[in-house]
Amino acid sequence: MKNVVIIGSQWGDEGKGKIVDWLSNQADVVVRFQGGHNAGHTLVIDGTTYKLRLLPSGIVRKNKISVIGNGVVIDPWALLEEIKEIKSKGVDVNPNNLIISEAASLILPFHAEMDEIREDAAGNAKIGTTRRGIGPAYEDKAGRRSIRIIDLISEKNLENKLNIILKHHNAIRIGLGKKIYNKTRLKKDLIKIAPNILKYSQPVWKKIDEFKLKKKKILFEGAQGILLDLDHGTYPFVTSSNTVAAAASIGSGCGIESINSVLGITKAYTTRVGEGPFPTELKNKTGEELASRGKEFGTVTSRKRRCGWFDGVLVRQSVKISGINLIALTKLDVLDNLDEIKICIAYNLNGKKIDYLPTGLENQLKIKPIYKTIKGWKKSTNGIKKFENLPDNAKKYVSEIEKFVKAKVSSISTGPERNDTIRIKNPFNF
Ligand code: GDP
Ligand code: IMO
Ligand code: MG
Repeated sequence: MKNVVIIGSQWGDEGKGKIVDWLSNQADVVVRFQGGHNAGHTLVIDGTTYKLRLLPSGIVRKNKISVIGNGVVIDPWALLEEIKEIKSKGVDVNPNNLIISEAASLILPFHAEMDEIREDAAGNAKIGTTRRGIGPAYEDKAGRRSIRIIDLISEKNLENKLNIILKHHNAIRIGLGKKIYNKTRLKKDLIKIAPNILKYSQPVWKKIDEFKLKKKKILFEGAQGILLDLDHGTYPFVTSSNTVAAAASIGSGCGIESINSVLGITKAYTTRVGEGPFPTELKNKTGEELASRGKEFGTVTSRKRRCGWFDGVLVRQSVKISGINLIALTKLDVLDNLDEIKICIAYNLNGKKIDYLPTGLENQLKIKPIYKTIKGWKKSTNGIKKFENLPDNAKKYVSEIEKFVKAKVSSISTGPERNDTIRIKNPFNF
C-alpha cells in the first residue's frame, strides 16, 4: 500500500473532494498542502452535502487524521468558522484528528482587502480571483514578512511581526488612497482566537515522518488544478501557489519518495471560473446545457463556471507536467443527453497545427481547437457502479481519453454521491 497525491488536471473543480472522500476509507491520513479557502471541495454522503474549503476531505470519516500543511495559507477566522460549521453537522474536530502546521502563513483581513482593491482597479485585466486574499498572502510569504501560525504564541512576537507586515501594507494602502490598517485592533483580535488555533498546531513534517514510520497510508489532497499552477498554468490567470503533485512534498515537509502515485482528477468536459484563456469554451446552448446539467456554479463564490468540450491537449500536458499515473474521470453522467461529444486533439495557430498549449497569453487566446467527434450514448449513466454497465459509446469515450492523454483511467464518477463511482484500478496499489 502506497501514498497517493490527488490533484486537479484542469482549472479546478474537477471533483477532487468527492474522490478524496471516496478513497479516504483506505487512507489513515489526509493532507492539504497548498492553496487556502479559495478551494471549495464538495462531498455528498447519503444525501448530506459537505462543502470544505480549508479542512481536508478526510475530516468527515471517523478515525482519520486530517493535516493542513505548511504550504497552505490559512485565514484563521475562516478556519474556525468552517470547523464550527462542520461540527454542527455532527463531525468531530479535535486536536487528535486535526493537525495544522506551525509554519503555515496566515491570511489576514488586509490581504482579502488588497485582493479586492486590486481586482476592482484592474478593470478588464482582472484575474477573477476568489477575493479571499490568497495572492497577497503568498506574496508576503515570499517577501518573508508573513505572520505564521507559530507567531500567535506570544503577544510580543505578534507585535513585532505586525509592525513589519503593516509597514509594507500601509505604504501600499496610502499609495492607493486607502486608510492605514489598525494594528491594535488586529492584534487584539488575533490574540483572542490564538488559543483556538494553536491547540491544533504541530510541526507537520515531524508528524508525517512518524506516520511514515508507522506505515500509515497518506492521501495528499490538492486544491485548484494544474492549469491554475503559478508556474505551469495559464499565467497570469492562475492562483498563487504551485498545484502540481510535487507541491505535496514541499507543502507538507516530506521527501518526494513519499509520493508513490499521482491521481489526476479529470472532468469529462472542461470548466473554468474566473478570467483567462479557454480554447474549448462553448458560448452557446451546449455550453449552457453542460453548466445546468453539471450544476456548474462555484462552491466558494457561487460564480457561474464557464463550460466547454474536453481538452485532451491540456490534460495530456498536465499528465506530463505533474507525472500523473492515473486518471479519475468525473461527471461522465453530465454528458448523457448529448448527440455528439467533442474532444480537442490539437490546436490551430496561425494555420499551423500544434500539439501543446503555447506559453504566451497572446497565442493562448489565438489558438483554435481541432476536434475529434464521438457519438453520444443518449442513456443515463447516473449512479452506475460497474464499468460493464456503461453504454458502449460511453466506454468508447473513456477509452479515447485514456489513449489520448496517455494515462490509465482508474475510476469513473457517475454522480455526486460518494458511491456513484466505478472502480477500475486502486491507486493505493499502483
Ligand atoms: P473540487 O473543487 O475539485 O473538489 O470540485 P467541486 O466540489 O468544487 O465541484 C465538483 C461538483 O461536481 C460538486 O458539486 C460535486 O458534488 C459534483 N460532482 C462530483 N462528481 C460528480 C459526478 O460524477 N457527477 C455529477 N453529476 N456531479 C459530480
Ligand atoms: P478548487 O480546489 C476553481 C481560480 C479563481 C481565479 C484564479 C485565482 O475548488 O478546485 P485566487 O483566489 O486563487 O487568487 O484566484 O484561480 N480558482 C479556482 N477555480 N477551483 C478552485 O479551487 C479555485 N481556486 C482558485 O477563480 O480564476
Ligand atoms: Mg471546487
